[in-house]
Amino acid sequence: MKIDRDFHMMKGDDKFSYAKNSRIQRRAILATRPMVEKAVREMCIDLHPQSMVIVDLGCSFGGNTLLFVSEVITTICENRNSALEESTMEVQFFLNDLPGNDFNQIFQSLEQFEQLTKQHCACRGLQPPPYYVAALAGSFYTRLFPSNTVHFFHSSMSVMWLSQVPENLDGSMNEGNVHIGATTRPMVAKLYQNQFEKDFMQFLRMRCREIVHGGRMVLTVVGRKSKDVFDAGRTTTIFELLSQGLRTLVAEGRVEKEKLDSFNIPIYCPSVDELKQLVWQNNLLDISDVQLFEMDGNPMDDLEPIEGTAATQATGQSMSATLRAAIESLIASHFGDSILDELFTVFARNFTSYIESEVEKSTITVITLYLQAKH
Ligand SMILES: C[S@@+](CC[C@H](N)C(=O)[O-])C[C@H]1O[C@@H](n2cnc3c(N)ncnc32)[C@H](O)[C@@H]1O
Repeated sequence: MKIDRDFHMMKGDDKFSYAKNSRIQRRAILATRPMVEKAVREMCIDLHPQSMVIVDLGCSFGGNTLLFVSEVITTICENRNSALEESTMEVQFFLNDLPGNDFNQIFQSLEQFEQLTKQHCACRGLQPPPYYVAALAGSFYTRLFPSNTVHFFHSSMSVMWLSQVPENLDGSMNEGNVHIGATTRPMVAKLYQNQFEKDFMQFLRMRCREIVHGGRMVLTVVGRKSKDVFDAGRTTTIFELLSQGLRTLVAEGRVEKEKLDSFNIPIYCPSVDELKQLVWQNNLLDISDVQLFEMDGNPMDDLEPIEGTAATQATGQSMSATLRAAIESLIASHFGDSILDELFTVFARNFTSYIESEVEKSTITVITLYLQAKH
């Protein structure tokens, strides 16, 4: 599969869609809201542009995409009422993702969003700034904007996706695993790390050409608390259980062993130190803040509470749907779509058994960098 061309979250709004299965990602946006608000406030004061250009990289679609837009508009409204009362600032949002993203879903929900935003601001005696929303399809590992034109880059739960399966990770080097698992060889883990370094440096290089002097970036990724590349908490567990599910299908003769051995998910969870090191290496950005959040990895906990076995089963199914919404396109292109239902049913069962036996609740580590352009 060519990631740039074919990778996408599950489209539409059915039960397996990303729109219906992105509560964990939503939690990350909510957790990092204070940092986004701070960045927007500081930009209004320091840069006070006539027209502010704001970009969400890896925006996907569904409620999360417009949640970010809404946070920014609300923060600007509040600023207009205080420091910038007379401001006539306009805001241009660019929502970026790969070409396979369901951009139509965003545009179809925009009219309702605009009405709600107007009402929400009016209730608080505020007036939203004039704003315009455009989509921009393309990989964030390439140039996306003219030089010195963007005031604020935001990205949530996207930049840990690599541009490709790690270079030189060939054949059955990672036998029986789909990611960095317990039986993965250290040299394979190193290939993942190398690919992330290369990609993240490229990402920063591109953004540094596009950002204006003093512009801000808030980047949130799934990361790890531990220095140990083999321990990314619940994220490691999820990929272990997926590998286990695929091994079950191999044992049943539903999947060829070579197919499993040659499948690797292009994602890497960096530590805070790794991220800081790469930003320092880039040398064009100041790190204003770094925060690490431990998020509850249960995709169900903001829904109706259910008790006992029914609850663990529902959690297993919900985690399975969350994972499926994100990686179905990768699985289908490598193994074909005939295994999808069975694989994710097995995964749900495995995940349910895992949480039933879990002594200490594991978490998803999320890291947010708040950066400022030096040049
Ligand atoms: C887990 S989703 C997060 C989406 C959204 N920001 C949220 O918080 O719900 C990751 C998104 O990153 C996008 N993505 C991955 N690699 C990308 C790339 N190289 N360029 C642009 N978008 C990319 C995926 O298509 C996907 O929509």
